[in-house]
Amino acid sequence: MISVLFVCLGNICRSPTAEGVFRSMVEAEGLSNRISIDSAGTAAYHIGEPPDRRAMTEAKNRGIDISGLRGRQANAGDFKRFDYVLAMDEENYSNLVTICPSGHEDKLSMFLDFAPGLGIQNVPDPYYEGGFGSVYEMIEKAAAGLLSDIKSKHLS
Ligand code: 4NP
Repeated sequence: MISVLFVCLGNICRSPTAEGVFRSMVEAEGLSNRISIDSAGTAAYHIGEPPDRRAMTEAKNRGIDISGLRGRQANAGDFKRFDYVLAMDEENYSNLVTICPSGHEDKLSMFLDFAPGLGIQNVPDPYYEGGFGSVYEMIEKAAAGLLSDIKSKHLS
C-alpha cells in the first residue's frame, strides 16, 4: 500500500479538495486497494469541521463529493504512517519541516512539484482571496502528475 497525505493550513479548502480529486482518479484506475489517501492541516482552527462550503460546491459541480471529510491537524506520526506528505504551499512546507521526525524528510515535497507545467510552487490559499475554480484546476493537474509518478515508481 502506498499512502499519500495532502496538507494545507486549515484542512478545509485545498487539501480536502486534493484528497477528493486524487481519490476519484485512483478509483477510476482501480487502484483503491493499492493507494491510501488522507488530508490534514498544519493549523488547529478547523479540527472536526467539514470542508469550506465554497470548496464543497466547486468539487460537487465537477462530480466530486468531499462533504464527508472532516478537518484534522497534521502531526509527527503522519510522517511514519505516510509515504508521501505533500504541502500545498511553502508555509505549510516549513510548518511540516518543524514537526518531521529525523529520517523521514525525504517523504515531504511540494504538491505542485507534480505539475511542473504550471510553473508555480504554491497552491494559492483561497480562503480569503477566493479563486476556488483555478485552485481546483491546479490540484487536478498535480493529482494526475502524482498518480503517474506513483504508478511508475511503485506500481509498475
Ligand atoms: P486551506 O484554507 O488551508 O486551504 O484549508 C484555509 C482555511 C482556513 C484558514 C486559512 C486557510 N483560516 O485562517 O482559518
